[in-house]
Amino acid sequence: MNFELKPLSLTEAASEKADALLVLVSDTYKPARDGFSVLVGLAIKEGDAQTKVGKTLALYKPPQSLATRVLIVGVGDGSAKHVRSGIVAAMDGIKSDKLKKLVVAFAGVAQAASLRAAVLAVADASYSYTSTKSKAEPRSLQTVLLTASNAGELQDSFERAVAVSTGVELAKEWANRPANHATPALLAKAAEALAAKHGKIRCEVLGPKEVGKLGMGAFLAVAQGSEEPLRFIVLKYSGAAKAVAPTVLVGKGITFDSGGISIKPAAEMDEMKYDMSGAASVLGVFRALAELKPAINVVGLIPSCENLLNGRAVKPGDVVTSMSGQTIEILNTDAEGRLVLCDALTYAERFKPRAVVDIATLTGACVVALGGVRSGLFSPNQELANALRAAGEAAQDLCWEMPLDEEYGEGLKSRFADVANVAGRAGGAVSAAKYLQRFTAKYPWAHLDIAGTAWKSGAAKGATGRPVGLLVEYLLAQLSK
Ligand code: BES
Ligand code: MN
Ligand code: ZN
Repeated sequence: MNFELKPLSLTEAASEKADALLVLVSDTYKPARDGFSVLVGLAIKEGDAQTKVGKTLALYKPPQSLATRVLIVGVGDGSAKHVRSGIVAAMDGIKSDKLKKLVVAFAGVAQAASLRAAVLAVADASYSYTSTKSKAEPRSLQTVLLTASNAGELQDSFERAVAVSTGVELAKEWANRPANHATPALLAKAAEALAAKHGKIRCEVLGPKEVGKLGMGAFLAVAQGSEEPLRFIVLKYSGAAKAVAPTVLVGKGITFDSGGISIKPAAEMDEMKYDMSGAASVLGVFRALAELKPAINVVGLIPSCENLLNGRAVKPGDVVTSMSGQTIEILNTDAEGRLVLCDALTYAERFKPRAVVDIATLTGACVVALGGVRSGLFSPNQELANALRAAGEAAQDLCWEMPLDEEYGEGLKSRFADVANVAGRAGGAVSAAKYLQRFTAKYPWAHLDIAGTAWKSGAAKGATGRPVGLLVEYLLAQLSK
């Protein structure tokens, strides 16, 4: 799919040949005097079109336009949030295999954030999962033209939005793939393919032997219950001089989480194919970096394996030694994410990072706390937390800061090891973060629990590609410092 941006009036936008034209009107819209604007102004005045979010008036082949379908779409106050909702509502009405060319016209000026929201909303609404369907129905949409009177000054944010949308899409694609089509080895291949295609990206993949040599006993313990061999994926994006300290992103890459011996109930267990969404978001970020080529350095670490159970599977009560040297009593084999992450977090030390951010579908407790609206954000470093929080707001990919008081870690005490991998049920998202924190003393660190935000359940089941938008925004904000 190809995005374009042009500085056009509404009349000019309406004279573009297209299968559909969305005219976005906000509360403050003052119709200009060109013919099409007058028509839109009249429709609003008469109350047939409304600027209220999501209200649409549909016209078929109106003589004033070369578009087959014209929708006048209310986008409320014109904010990024309202533009997204308006477009999602409008696209719902015109989802058709006939939609090849779409024009999205801002009536008047567009804010940078709203333009960005429009790009991402169109990409999201037209996404079609195909990779395991025998009769695939691929996305029909090929060209999207965005117009606004001030388009000239929006080029940078436009390019950034398009790059983010390709990253989001890659993350969605991998997260959506079933576990037998997204094994650790296949994830590693995807990372290698990214590196092969883009000059500034390198990829190194470690297998069980190398990971054993590194002493990653916690990661190995999770992987040992499956026939599918683990992969530890190391991606490097070099956009700045070697001496510039990188940001390290660590993505949880459990390609299927059965819970292990502490097995999960059957209902909805299929959704545990999404337990590699953190890893998918790291791939997505690298895809966007490849496009934007910013002058920064970024390392992506993906510990990937299945959490299954065979005769060699790790058992509740087993004690293993992590790469950090700390011994861990595995009281619940379903708290596997923190086990693979802790070794990756120790590995991250070697890069002398400016910051390390891990991204993980870590706890059901975070879903209970924050639902699907905001990801959980944990960091003992207030500056880092603020930067991530602000990036989330700017990208409309929200997160919410959670506490890390000492007391939340008390339940992790073990009689037989340095630490246990679970505490009680209460405050489960926080005790998981407290566990991870034990492995992050050597650098500024933050943790994003995306268990509630990485995918949607129910009728609209599917990956969201979050938090690629937040992460790219956070990384690019370093450029202006
Ligand atoms: N992958 C799950 C977390 C999860 C659960 C994400 C539901 C999304 C929806 C994680 O590995 C897990 O099983 N966590 C346990 C931890 C518990 C055993 C302390 C949980 O949340 O139940
Ligand atoms: Mn689990
Ligand atoms: Zn898990």
